[in-house]
Amino acid sequence: DCHAIILAGGSGTRLWPLSRNLLPKQLLVLDGTTTLLQQTVSRVLEMFPPDHVWVVTNEEHVFEVRKQVSVLDARLETQVLAEPLGRNTLPAIMLGLDRVVEVNPKALAAVFPSDHLIRNGEAWAADLVRASELAADKRFVTFGVKPDKPETGYGYIALGEDLGGNAFAVRGFVEKPDLRTAEGFVREGSHLWNSGMFLFSAKLFLSQVARFEPVLWDWWMRRDETPLVRGYRDIPDISVDYGVVEKIDNITAVRAGFDWDDLGSWEAMYRLGEKDASGNVVKGDVLAMGCSGCLLISEGGKLAVSGLSNMIMVQTRDATLACPMDRVQTVRDVVAALKAEG
Ligand code: GDD
Ligand code: MG
Repeated sequence: DCHAIILAGGSGTRLWPLSRNLLPKQLLVLDGTTTLLQQTVSRVLEMFPPDHVWVVTNEEHVFEVRKQVSVLDARLETQVLAEPLGRNTLPAIMLGLDRVVEVNPKALAAVFPSDHLIRNGEAWAADLVRASELAADKRFVTFGVKPDKPETGYGYIALGEDLGGNAFAVRGFVEKPDLRTAEGFVREGSHLWNSGMFLFSAKLFLSQVARFEPVLWDWWMRRDETPLVRGYRDIPDISVDYGVVEKIDNITAVRAGFDWDDLGSWEAMYRLGEKDASGNVVKGDVLAMGCSGCLLISEGGKLAVSGLSNMIMVQTRDATLACPMDRVQTVRDVVAALKAEG
């Protein structure tokens, strides 16, 4: 018996100005005709009955999330859980687990981010089956992806003993290393990217919260008197990676057989997009003359560009971003500066 907890509360600033506080990455159509959240939910519905699927999001987005998931299956309308404010992924997972253990205290739970691109769903399903076998054997399972570049925006899993069937013991975790460290990991082939997907028994997970996060454990144990959402403001902001995954003794990694991209930047959007003869990815009302290697998107009005190479231009009704391809990581700083400006 396995439940799915889909995390859909991130605010995604790296795809500004398309993603905003009010419309984060998972709620956008970035590839194909449905949003990343809808793609995630559709994939999950192939493996889980609707009453075993829990979507956790922020109160701000709950209306849009309900709308997007209930067109896929009307029964999901009541499976969306709202956090009063963002407290990161560990409390969000516990909010989902609250429902899971109410149904079955012995259940397994799988955690899925809602804003990633996964292209071969069949391989994903096979890996899930493998992971649930391992989790039924009391292992905490994480899904790792073979890195093809030294990405610094991801966490890395250090691999230990090969357990067979694409499973490995985990020696440790390194969250968002610097570039030199990441380059070493890729060169040595010793690490996988942490995909942010996990599978475990609810009981095992909660016992680790009890061990490592006393404040959250206290919050959890009092939930009969004070529903979890009521105490939300008073709990720490902590990711599942820092709070639990990095600290558990025995973790098993399943090496993913599926294609995975976290679509964390405009560079990823360019890389995955369909290119014209000059290597441009163009979407919307755009006139491009003599451009090459550019990502050009307009969602509001005409965008005309001439003679640009390796540039990103994204125009919406009320904001425009222009930035060289090799500076995409600074979009985060741009957003921070705009926020500070007010
Ligand atoms: N419900 C809810 N509430 N969801 C959240 C919250 C929250 O407060 N914060 C984040 N999420 C969701 C995001 O929407 C995303 O789907 C997922 O949880 C992961 O959060 P991110 O904020 O995107 O994490 P990250 O990208 O910095 O790092 C994580 O993901 C990487 C892979 O994409 C880590 O697990 C890394 O180790 C990993 O490599
Ligand atoms: Mg992310």
